[in-house]
Amino acid sequence: MNTAEIKQKLGEPYFETENCLIYNDDSLKLMKKFDDNTVDMTVTSPPYNIGKEYETLLPIDDYLNWCEKWINEIYRITKMNGTFWLNLGYLEMPNKAKALPIPYLLWERNPFYFIQEIVWNYGAGVSAKKFFAPRNEKLLWYVKDKDNYTFNLDDIRDKNVKYPNQKKKGRLRCNPLGKNPTDVWQIPKVTSGANRSSKERTPHPAQFPSALIDRLVKGSSNENDLIIDPFLGSGTSAIVAMANKRQFVGIEIEQKYCEITKRRIKDFLDTPKSLKLFE
Ligand SMILES: C[S@@+](CC[C@H](N)C(=O)[O-])C[C@H]1O[C@@H](n2cnc3c(N)ncnc32)[C@H](O)[C@@H]1O
Repeated sequence: MNTAEIKQKLGEPYFETENCLIYNDDSLKLMKKFDDNTVDMTVTSPPYNIGKEYETLLPIDDYLNWCEKWINEIYRITKMNGTFWLNLGYLEMPNKAKALPIPYLLWERNPFYFIQEIVWNYGAGVSAKKFFAPRNEKLLWYVKDKDNYTFNLDDIRDKNVKYPNQKKKGRLRCNPLGKNPTDVWQIPKVTSGANRSSKERTPHPAQFPSALIDRLVKGSSNENDLIIDPFLGSGTSAIVAMANKRQFVGIEIEQKYCEITKRRIKDFLDTPKSLKLFE
């Protein structure tokens, strides 16, 4: 299915460019309009129920029930060889846990086949006095069919090899394209503040770094595939999908964030140097 066919199902978007549709709507409501088995890849980071400006805090059970609903909807609309990348952090559970990784709470509620967890180690973050300062979030890699999914390892090899010319029995030990990036990724967070603000930063409080999403898009999808992000925020996944020639549908409930996405997409299309974000 291409974005023109998706548009017929979903209706007029808030904003569109070639191969990219942005909807200002509730993702659960809108995903119900997709046919079964149509999406190649979903990449998203939902609200964590921790009191960010875009969240209404819910009792934890209500939050988990809501997560289960949209995860099941993503499962229904994912193709049989499709992929779901889910970025999650941690939350506090009163009288039970200070910083509980949200994936622990969702394990029983997810119908996908789980491949593995990537630890995203992001350098800067909040400080802590009576526990270790958190410096990681998780990227959970799910597929529908454990034997049939896209993994373009050569497109995402890590070129930072310590001994690239080391040989064993006359043959190079390391792949000349680079090494496997492993399951721990050190990619800086998008930071704010005088002197330390990231170049790509927007006013959104939980923006993905584009380098993180670039690796997921290149590794788990192919040109022209359909990618969706049902919690689009500032539109990072949209820009990365476009830069990699994928089709894209993004859904975001807050209009002010759709406006940020609209501006970023326009900048990206107008100014070739926007591509530097991914270097
Ligand atoms: C963690 S942020 C995503 C940030 C994004 N990854 C980025 O790079 O900017 C989650 C987003 O989900 C949006 N959201 C919350 N509930 C939603 C819903 N029911 N439907 C669509 N979007 C929703 C929030 O407004 C917020 O922008």
